[in-house]
Amino acid sequence: MARAPKISFAPLKPQLTATAVVLAGDDVSTGVVTKKALADAGNLLVRAAKAENFKGKLGKTFALVAPSGLKAERLIVIGLGKLKDLKPGDWIKLGGKAMAKVPASASNVTVLLELPEGKLAASAAADFALGMTLRAYKFDRYKTKKKDDDAKNGEKNGAPANITIAVDDPAAARKEWASREAIGEGVVLARDLVNEPPNVLYPVEFARRASALKKLGVGIDVLDKKAMQKLGMNALLGVGQGSSHESRLVVMRWNGGKKGTPPVAIVGKGVCFDTGGISIKPAGGMEDMKGDMAGAACVVGLMHALAARKAKVNAVGVIGIVENMPDGNAQRPGDIVKSMSGQTIEIINTDAEGRLVLGDALWYTKERFKPAFMVNLATLTGAILVALGQEYAGMFSNSDKLSSRLTEAGQETGERVWRMPLGPEYDKLIDSKFADMKNTGGRYGGSITAAQFLKRFVGDTPWAHLDVAGTAMASPASDINTGWAAGWGVRLLNHWINTHHED
Ligand code: BES
Ligand code: MN
Ligand code: ZN
Repeated sequence: MARAPKISFAPLKPQLTATAVVLAGDDVSTGVVTKKALADAGNLLVRAAKAENFKGKLGKTFALVAPSGLKAERLIVIGLGKLKDLKPGDWIKLGGKAMAKVPASASNVTVLLELPEGKLAASAAADFALGMTLRAYKFDRYKTKKKDDDAKNGEKNGAPANITIAVDDPAAARKEWASREAIGEGVVLARDLVNEPPNVLYPVEFARRASALKKLGVGIDVLDKKAMQKLGMNALLGVGQGSSHESRLVVMRWNGGKKGTPPVAIVGKGVCFDTGGISIKPAGGMEDMKGDMAGAACVVGLMHALAARKAKVNAVGVIGIVENMPDGNAQRPGDIVKSMSGQTIEIINTDAEGRLVLGDALWYTKERFKPAFMVNLATLTGAILVALGQEYAGMFSNSDKLSSRLTEAGQETGERVWRMPLGPEYDKLIDSKFADMKNTGGRYGGSITAAQFLKRFVGDTPWAHLDVAGTAMASPASDINTGWAAGWGVRLLNHWINTHHED
């Protein structure tokens, strides 16, 4: 994991040094300060743009190395397209695109963040910086040989770059950046947790890392096996019983809102490794199942973001952390367990373990905190990948209000959710011959029957389940992430809370 680049804001000055980034609108138009900074190199830029067929279209970029007439070693040009077509959500992506053009060896980056005309909003500048930070992320803590190309100033790979962003109003940008920085840290924390190998990040270690949020003023309770046995969490414990690593449940409380306001609760599936258990998975690609705790990682990242930016909200995060292993002591198909809610569950397939963990975690959260809203995230089903691919997370909810708010937050952050159906016809599919319910509902509608299962543990609480199996792990590269762990959901839920739950 590379340390995050150091971001600072400065006033606009006609100066381009080190690795320099400038903005260009339609037809390669630039702002007055940028024009002045380019001075004689302006012609060079026009010629080079022509040669590269760069017309300043939105999201297109090109770079010039050692441009004559400039102090800068490299000039990176970012296309904005027509200014009237720019959307607020574009700026984080543009920052990512800029960072993608910065060589790993660059120690100092200067950005002239000036529009060809009009003033750039401070929030856009901060989003651009966040995009740069997120794109700079890499997880290389287990590489002992660093590539020469990536070394900075003879330092080992991973030295953070200094990024100076020149803007019209640095004070305003700094203010906006304060919250973005907290959000960026939360995303990076979530990515790190998801990328960690499963021999390092087992339940006790995960609980320890979540407990580090104490430093930010987050209240932490860690429930061990004995504490969970006492509460009757046999659905969760049954999943972990085949592992030599003990299960944990971690509660994170952030009380930044008015005293007595019911909290929003976020619940995460934290399966540190999912072999499938006795219903073991095929070998091919099983290594990806280290990411089966991405829902829980998002909860930890979100709680970090809320605390670090001192969000004015009462929020609780609850994560159920287990390892699903085959073993002489492992749970069997045919076993019947009694959940904390009192409802009994017949285990049909030990690979449908996430719902068992969440059933107890959701019930516990509802009973203890009586939340105003409850959202859970889980890499729950392969079927959601079949339905939605890796662009949208599946959303299942008993509340139209919560659904439309999350859909909107998804559009605004780019972490999009697509609502899927629930209904009594689907619910029937998980009735069991021997117990109150069974843990699989057959081949058809696998993501829906999984959601119906969860619904039996939330009572009347307005609730949404986000199936993030397609979005939070094994993610393709994007403008703001070079791949695998996306830290998906931190920005979405932060935005939802910021818009609807902060006074
Ligand atoms: N963790 C998996 C779901 C998953 C699959 C996440 C692919 C990410 C990528 C989950 O525990 C699981 O195994 N689900 C089964 C359920 C089935 C046995 C009813 C599945 O999707 O096949
Ligand atoms: Mn599974
Ligand atoms: Zn799983």
